[in-house]
Amino acid sequence: MDSPIAVIGGTGRVGRLVARQLLARGESVRVIGRSTQRARRHNPPQAQFFAADVRAPATVRTPLHGCSAVVYIVEPGTDDAGPDSPETTLHTGVRHVLDALLATSGSPHFVLVSQRHVTRRDHPMNAYGRMLDWRLAGENAVRSSGLPYTVIRPGWLTDEPGHGHLHLEQGDVGDGRVARPHVADACVEALYSPAARGVTFEMRSEVGPGTGSPPWDELFTGLRADTPTAARAALA
Ligand SMILES: NC(=O)c1ccc[n+]([C@@H]2O[C@H](COP(=O)([O-])OP(=O)(O)OC[C@H]3O[C@@H](n4cnc5c(N)ncnc54)[C@H](OP(=O)(O)O)[C@@H]3O)[C@@H](O)[C@H]2O)c1
Repeated sequence: MDSPIAVIGGTGRVGRLVARQLLARGESVRVIGRSTQRARRHNPPQAQFFAADVRAPATVRTPLHGCSAVVYIVEPGTDDAGPDSPETTLHTGVRHVLDALLATSGSPHFVLVSQRHVTRRDHPMNAYGRMLDWRLAGENAVRSSGLPYTVIRPGWLTDEPGHGHLHLEQGDVGDGRVARPHVADACVEALYSPAARGVTFEMRSEVGPGTGSPPWDELFTGLRADTPTAARAALA
């Protein structure tokens, strides 16, 4: 791509894989997170690190300026009264990033890592600071932003190598674990595949022997594009 790609949460366990893959493709990468120490430990020096906090809108404007794409992989806290509450990290933070992107020219692709179960309000995960409700609100902000986007909903994350068979699903009815490397691959591949624009999907990977690289174009082409009705229904 002609301009840098921002990885917000690029010091994290999925984010650092995304940053490395993008660098390997020759991209200019901006890693955004709060801890400089974490960046030093987990990112190669070619990744440009910006200390910024999605809860503080003034801090994200400079690192996002001129980016051709953004991958948002921020981990929330689980206490609705805590400083990292799901509301601030999964909804308000997403809004701050969207506002910064919409204030500049261009139309960057927004890849949001959300989670499976997000439309199932009675799921036990929602007891943690209404995490699922705030994730869904963040998703809906991205879907209605007018920017090209991809919403990725992983199930429970594992640190398996990510070589087992991978399934992309829609409708948020299933369950299952997924390897962090598969999620990182999906974030990166989505940036280069037109079929991955305007879609929301869940991910599940089977632990098993290597099957080679998943056929990403085929997987993305098999997805239904989101419709405004589908996004509204998810809000109910
Ligand atoms: N664990 C699961 O089973 C599971 C299931 C489904 C989805 N997910 C989601 O998958 C994503 C990746 O998970 P992971 O394991 O890679 O997470 P992780 O290792 O905990 O990394 C989280 C990243 O978010 C950054 N971050 C947190 N708060 C921030 C803030 N206010 N401003 C800017 N950056 C902030 C962290 O950096 P700093 O702390 O330095 O800011 C770090 O880079 C997360 O969104 C997670 O919620 C997880």
